[in-house]
Amino acid sequence: SEMLLLLVLAVLYPGGDNQGASQEPISFHLIQISSFVNSTWIQYHGSGWVDDLQIHGWNSVADTAIFLKPWSKGNFSDVEISDLVELFRVYTFAFIREMRAHVHEFQLEYPFEIQGIAGCELHPGGAILSFLRGALGGLDFVSFRNSSCVPASEGGSRAQLVCALLRPYGDIFHIVKKLLYETCPRFLLGVLEAGKADLQRQVKPEAWLSSGPSPGPGRLLLVCHVSGFYPKPVWVMWMRGDQEQQGTQRGDFLPNGDGTWHLRATLDVAAGEAAGLACRVKHSSLGGQDLVLYWGGSVSIAVIILIVMVLCLVIALGLALWFWRHR
Ligand SMILES: *[C@@H]1O[C@H](CO)[C@@H](O)[C@H](O)[C@H]1NC(C)=O
Ligand SMILES: *[C@@H]1O[C@H](CO)[C@@H](O)[C@H](O)[C@H]1NC(C)=O
Ligand SMILES: *[C@@H]1O[C@H](CO)[C@@H](O)[C@H](O)[C@H]1NC(C)=O
Repeated sequence: SEMLLLLVLAVLYPGGDNQGASQEPISFHLIQISSFVNSTWIQYHGSGWVDDLQIHGWNSVADTAIFLKPWSKGNFSDVEISDLVELFRVYTFAFIREMRAHVHEFQLEYPFEIQGIAGCELHPGGAILSFLRGALGGLDFVSFRNSSCVPASEGGSRAQLVCALLRPYGDIFHIVKKLLYETCPRFLLGVLEAGKADLQRQVKPEAWLSSGPSPGPGRLLLVCHVSGFYPKPVWVMWMRGDQEQQGTQRGDFLPNGDGTWHLRATLDVAAGEAAGLACRVKHSSLGGQDLVLYWGGSVSIAVIILIVMVLCLVIALGLALWFWRHR
């Protein structure tokens, strides 16, 4: 019956980009990525995350969990944590063994990769939803819903076969259900409280501009770098005045070593049209004071001239008023 647990958990799949602001749900989830290179060579990666912040790793040589933050155990006792680690140790061992044993039955061919994600998320109203999904080669394969295995349409007949094979194993479903609907919500609430200082920290982005490789004759690639910010949600846009430039291309979020994020936004423009463009950055740490960086400085000079002109006008008016009063 271990096979059932393995298979159910085999359905982990890395979550999409969580663009959540504070209105968005916050999740705790485990990610499992197993690469079956050939019949003897298997790479296994396990990790635990609060949204986009990794708090657990898995050492597949020592076969044990790594706690990356002082608060990674939430409010669970050492005994409960070591029981869970033992459960995952048994699970990973059985998962790999069963997958290797059933390669032919599942019509799999080396090399293949299985990804799984399982966890729960707290919604703003207080509701907690649990999820477990598995993918094969990057495509949705199966998920766990309402206590049963649901094949994904992308998974085809193979996913139906796997769910059919699992169906009789009620005891496995019982364990998974308990982990997803009881243990996970309890752990999530505890870990959010224990890690509050880290999770709610606000780190301001730094931003700078550069030019990328020219996209073609007479054209410029303007690059806006935004780095070192936390949390992850950020808004970056090339602007002309108040006009958002729809050609803005946002890159992938890249992690910095300190848990903060890095993002690039590029814009391909005719060289003559670059002046007057600016990169605007909005982030929760900035308290509504957007960062605005002007390309080439021509606009900032224009702004300075404008300010000087307004000041001159104010002084001139002030002097005129003074003379009028003291005439
Ligand atoms: C499996 O892959 C590893 C790494 O590529 C290689 O060293 C090994 O010889 C392969 N084994 C078999 C049985 O093909
Ligand atoms: C969930 O399963 C129960 C019992 O098997 C069933 O009565 C219920 O209708 C199901 N709910 C959904 C949303 O499928
Ligand atoms: C941890 O915190 C959660 C939420 O406050 C609570 O429900 C739970 O009983 C606490 N203790 C343990 C051991 O889970």
